[in-house]
Amino acid sequence: MICVMVGPPGSGKGTQAELIAAALGVPHISTGELLRAEAAAGTPLGREVAPLLAAGELVPDELMERLMQQRLAAPDAAPGAILDGYPRTVPQAEALDRCLAATGRRADLVLVLEVEEEMLVRRLLDRAAKEHRTDDNPDSIAERLVEYRQLTEPVVEQYRGAGVAVLAVDGTGPVDAVHARIARAMRGAGLLADEQA
Ligand code: AP5
Repeated sequence: MICVMVGPPGSGKGTQAELIAAALGVPHISTGELLRAEAAAGTPLGREVAPLLAAGELVPDELMERLMQQRLAAPDAAPGAILDGYPRTVPQAEALDRCLAATGRRADLVLVLEVEEEMLVRRLLDRAAKEHRTDDNPDSIAERLVEYRQLTEPVVEQYRGAGVAVLAVDGTGPVDAVHARIARAMRGAGLLADEQA
């Protein structure tokens, strides 16, 4: 199962990806977390991407393609993965298709989390008060929302056009309720067994 999680910043991609990954027994791969870890470790890649992360701007597609090729080749991703934050542009989706096709795989599901903008901003500013992520400030949040609308939403249409299952789920309400909605939608599409919660 290769599941692509899509949603605006603060929609709960990371939170829900973790729960689905646990239910399916596959890794949760967050490109944001991979990049933040590089930045925190001060690696050459981390130094290159840190200013982009802080400004809420996207990291170049070629760099993301290399990073994900490497991550998806790791043995734990052989049975599948929940991809959180990748692909984020149409060229990234094409790169992912090529990468998966090399091992006879394809994206099985695109899960879109829908949350209104006012609530997204509230969640991110709440987190800013607790966790101090460099991009949880009004300017970077605004930039991340623009990038999402302009560059990431077309990815969903690209997959839909290619015949990949797209499930849009209401991402509001308590975390458990959102997870239950996702599980129900996946079961309805035959992508989650009854015993996998
Ligand atoms: P990334 O880490 O992917 O950030 P994002 O898309 O802005 O999303 P967030 O992590 O802020 O939100 P989320 O939707 O995951 O929600 P979460 O579960 O965390 O990317 C960061 C940056 O890295 C990008 O801006 C870019 O620079 C770079 N990057 C990453 N991937 C890239 C790519 N493919 N190409 C180029 N650049 C890339 O929840 C948010 C908050 O809400 C948390 O505090 C959480 O506890 C809370 N919350 C979650 N669910 C609920 C709920 N149901 N009710 C109440 N609170 C909730």
